[in-house]
Amino acid sequence: MPQLGDATRGRILFGGDYNPEQWPQEVWPADVRLMKEARVNSVTLGVFSWAKLEPRPGAREFGWLDRLMDLLHDNGIGVVLSTPTASPPPWLGRLHPETLPRDEDGRVEWWGGRQHFSHSSEAYRRYAAAITEDLAARYGSHPALTMWHINNEYCTYDWGDEAAARFRRWLKNKYVTLDALNTAWGTAFWSQGYGDWNEVLPPRHAHYLKNPTQVLDFRRFTSDMLLECYVAERDIVRRHTPHTPVTSNFMPLWVGQDAWRWAAEEDVVSVDLYPDPRDPFGAQSGALVQDLTRSQARGPWMLMEQAAGPVNWRGVNHPKPHGLNRLWSLQAVARGADAVCYFQWRQSRQGAEKFHSGMVSHAGAEGRTYQEVKRLGAELHKISGDVTGGHIQSDIALLHDWHSWWAGAQDGRLSTHVDHPDLLRAWHRALWEAHLTTDFAHPEHDLTRYKLVLAPQLYLLTDTAIDNLLAYVRGGGTLVCGFLTGIADEDDRVRPGGVDARLRELFGIRTLHEWWPLDAGETVECDGFRGTLWSEEIEAEDGATAIPYKGGELDGLPAVLHQGRAWYVSTLPEPDALRDLLSRIAADAGARPVLDGLPARVEAVRRGDLLFVLNHGREPVTVDVPGTHRDLLTGERVTGRLTLARYGAAVLRP
Ligand code: GAL
Repeated sequence: MPQLGDATRGRILFGGDYNPEQWPQEVWPADVRLMKEARVNSVTLGVFSWAKLEPRPGAREFGWLDRLMDLLHDNGIGVVLSTPTASPPPWLGRLHPETLPRDEDGRVEWWGGRQHFSHSSEAYRRYAAAITEDLAARYGSHPALTMWHINNEYCTYDWGDEAAARFRRWLKNKYVTLDALNTAWGTAFWSQGYGDWNEVLPPRHAHYLKNPTQVLDFRRFTSDMLLECYVAERDIVRRHTPHTPVTSNFMPLWVGQDAWRWAAEEDVVSVDLYPDPRDPFGAQSGALVQDLTRSQARGPWMLMEQAAGPVNWRGVNHPKPHGLNRLWSLQAVARGADAVCYFQWRQSRQGAEKFHSGMVSHAGAEGRTYQEVKRLGAELHKISGDVTGGHIQSDIALLHDWHSWWAGAQDGRLSTHVDHPDLLRAWHRALWEAHLTTDFAHPEHDLTRYKLVLAPQLYLLTDTAIDNLLAYVRGGGTLVCGFLTGIADEDDRVRPGGVDARLRELFGIRTLHEWWPLDAGETVECDGFRGTLWSEEIEAEDGATAIPYKGGELDGLPAVLHQGRAWYVSTLPEPDALRDLLSRIAADAGARPVLDGLPARVEAVRRGDLLFVLNHGREPVTVDVPGTHRDLLTGERVTGRLTLARYGAAVLRP
């Protein structure tokens, strides 16, 4: 199987989405000159070029792309070539209105924006395959081609008729009989029993709460349909170029794709990442996505898109202060990226994203953005040889599963304040602040190489996953689970006793009497800290209470339970308390921080034999780094102590 290394060939890929069709041809040579000055070695072409490549049904206009491929190749810049299927030309919607998706209220998503395609539409799939086939045939042997990029951020839904027909086929394949579907969906509730497959629909607009298992299956179906679209295009390009890696870019922690399944179908796992420069936890939320992407890739991964300056889709869009673009790019490399790329090369003058930054901003080559990009390009070039291919070892894994997220996020739950990504962020933040490097894993993955496994929340757990967790603990691993873990089976059926019996036994939960969700801002006293968001009325087995609730309705009942190597946390401790609790458990399990005594907002990551030290603070900082190192960025020797400027970074080799 081809891999990222086949495209990087020992260099960090540096560049971004390049949309030259938005510019007169006279600009192209200037672009390439600036790219070379900034050591850009990779651009992604064609992401939104369908109407340009196929201006009329069946027409092919490849001349402009030929010239660009040649121009880039002549200048030593590789091309990640995209299939243009994320944004069909208007003629497709006009000739085939069935290619346009419908929302749950039946409203059509018209052309005029982007991503107005139904994953289920036969016509869409046919036209997408045809342009992909011709693109692959034409450029498969072009020397500029380094990688294929399929579509862009697959994220569409469709509740329309063609999707309904495919949904039924998908369900027949899963359940075989209507009886099995009725049982899985619990249709005895509210008179929902189906007597004919044609009665089964996507969960369209309804008077009141929808059937949760129907909604869950629709999410699974949607992820699978998008994956079918991806696989169809991937297989076409693979037939032409079996040795060229293929990717499709994920959105960060995006709800719509089961990215574990998707990643298994990709040669290169890539992600788009846009933390808010004003977010005090922007660096950590970036680190989370980087850890997740690395874990999906099981090695080096590609930062397909980031912004050199502001985005344009938040309420208020802040620029990156001086140095932040460099720092966050090096952070991605520290956490396993072998490609640091942007949306986009040159800021657009027209269209919906004209206020979204580019590597070359409206200020042009003199602007601070390009100047910083240029410096970064030189630095990445300098460290490339030492970094690429390097792996990151972690003794800790955080568990995450899309199906559990989907099931747990349904309407009709006990608290809408409980949000799966927020919980992942809270637990990841605790580890990040404790300088503990973590991977992510799926609850059914082999966990045996980890000393500590954490499940912030796995509302839905399959029997296989539960067996896996039990075996992990039996084999000597330490497991910590947060509240609302092990509640439902894979059909979203609540397990007898409220929490799976095997897990209750593992944690020492004799009876779970009631869940006690907390209001926004409400806290619950525990012995030594305050809990937020959630609490539980649990009767523990003898000796299983580690930390009790104090005062209030739950006084004396366990907030944290502990038996052997298994821990259960029935509330969300405030951030410092969660950090302290998880650090203690990690230390007992033998998982060590990267460096001891690091100040807050300094991040340290080991990649291969390199040590990255990153100062996310706005003040200079001095840190102890035992031993003697050379900083690959400055060439200087570092003995014992390292001083970093605000947003400063060092890449240390022993
Ligand atoms: C991504 C997308 C790009 C661009 C960017 C702006 O979601 O793939 O095409 O729209 O966002 O931040």
